[in-house]
Amino acid sequence: MKMQIASFTVSGLAAILVGLACAPAAQALEIALPPETAALKPSTLPGYQLALRNCTACHSAQYMQTQPPLSHEWWEGEVKKMKKVYGALIPDADMSAIADYMSATYGSGKGADEANAKGVAAAGAKK
Ligand code: HEC
Repeated sequence: MKMQIASFTVSGLAAILVGLACAPAAQALEIALPPETAALKPSTLPGYQLALRNCTACHSAQYMQTQPPLSHEWWEGEVKKMKKVYGALIPDADMSAIADYMSATYGSGKGADEANAKGVAAAGAKK
């Protein structure tokens, strides 16, 4: 019985060694990630530039785009939460302008800034 186990182990080992010898050499894998398509909506509101600087380091703009049209107050709280809870390095002086932009673009003020955003996009296309 003992012999049988031993011979089984040896043949198992041999199979592993043969397998290793036949394995192709490790190759560098090239992985092409899909392009990031979510971007903050352009606006002439000062909060747009501030948001580009302060709000896209940790997550994509999809986080803002997928919110329901929430109030200005909610967006103020959200900007505060990003700073206080998640440690975003947002200067205090920039916070209300960012909330203005977020609320006008993704919140309850949505639509009011729509014409503005189109104007900016058209101006950008002419360049
Ligand atoms: C330091 C990193 C960081 C920065 C910078 C940051 N966020 Fe976030 N944000 C997070 C984390 C972490 C979450 C929660 C992720 C989760 O729950 O999956 C989050 C979630 C969100 C959400 C989804 C709703 C929620 O509360 O979970 C929104 C909207 C959002 N962030 C907006 C912003 C805005 C606006 C800014 C700029 C003022 C900003 N974020 C900057 C880290 C950051």
